[in-house]
Amino acid sequence: MKVIEYLKREGVKATVKKIGEKITLKPGADSRKTLFLVCSDFKESRRDQFPGYAFARLAEDDLDAFDEFNFFQHIKGCDYVGRADDGAVICIFEKTICAYACFEMNKVKRIHGTGQFELASDEAWIGPCYVAKEHRGRGLNGELIRTASAMAASRGARRLFTSINGANFASQASFEKAGFETFAIYDGKSKSIVATDSARFGIFENKVMIKEGTERIAL
Ligand SMILES: CC(C)(COP(=O)(O)OP(=O)(O)OC[C@H]1O[C@@H](n2cnc3c(N)ncnc32)[C@H](O)[C@@H]1OP(=O)(O)O)[C@@H](O)C(=O)NCCC(=O)NCCS
Repeated sequence: MKVIEYLKREGVKATVKKIGEKITLKPGADSRKTLFLVCSDFKESRRDQFPGYAFARLAEDDLDAFDEFNFFQHIKGCDYVGRADDGAVICIFEKTICAYACFEMNKVKRIHGTGQFELASDEAWIGPCYVAKEHRGRGLNGELIRTASAMAASRGARRLFTSINGANFASQASFEKAGFETFAIYDGKSKSIVATDSARFGIFENKVMIKEGTERIAL
């Protein structure tokens, strides 16, 4: 997202912080890296812990409000409505959308800025996710991930995947709390993505990344 757009949506403080983070990266943070996470141990929803917030599947009637709220320019609300395999969970506070998480199934998932990732018929992709800044830090993203995961599971997903920028600690923390673990890291330039624990995640040996362009990258 361009700086000016980020500034409009996130405000001066968050933009300065983001630029600062890019210039002086925290130990372990690397915005050029993409983390790949997996979850096969779904966590229960904790909706009763969010009084005042309602959660619902994105519907036709929400599309205008969703597109106005939407943070990510590479997605559109209509791509997540009226399709059996794709959906989004929205979170509503005082009749206004304040957060969302998307899910997708049965496709070669295009990962913005990285490449493509093949999903098997019992696998789903969770994301992107967004929480309006005044509602952050309450665990809403974790709850949206749990709810989107449950929706995908009800359509047959047994394993869930996502990818996160290597400097996005908040996103990483909320996915981890929802039961996701990092299984591979892509450094943004080499021809392979590196499994963090190939013995443990050997089941993903047949996973393939297809870099934007033509290269196929075997994990
Ligand atoms: C990432 C994002 C969705 C998180 O939303 P959220 O509702 O605040 O997330 P949660 O409250 O579920 O969890 C955030 C966790 O990250 C932690 N966290 C926040 N900032 C952190 C940081 N800089 N370093 C480490 N942990 C951090 C929080 O403390 C919280 O953990 P806790 O419950 O132990 O306190 C939100 O910050 C956002 O919309 N960011 C902009 C868009 C984005 O980056 N989307 C994700 C990419 S798909």
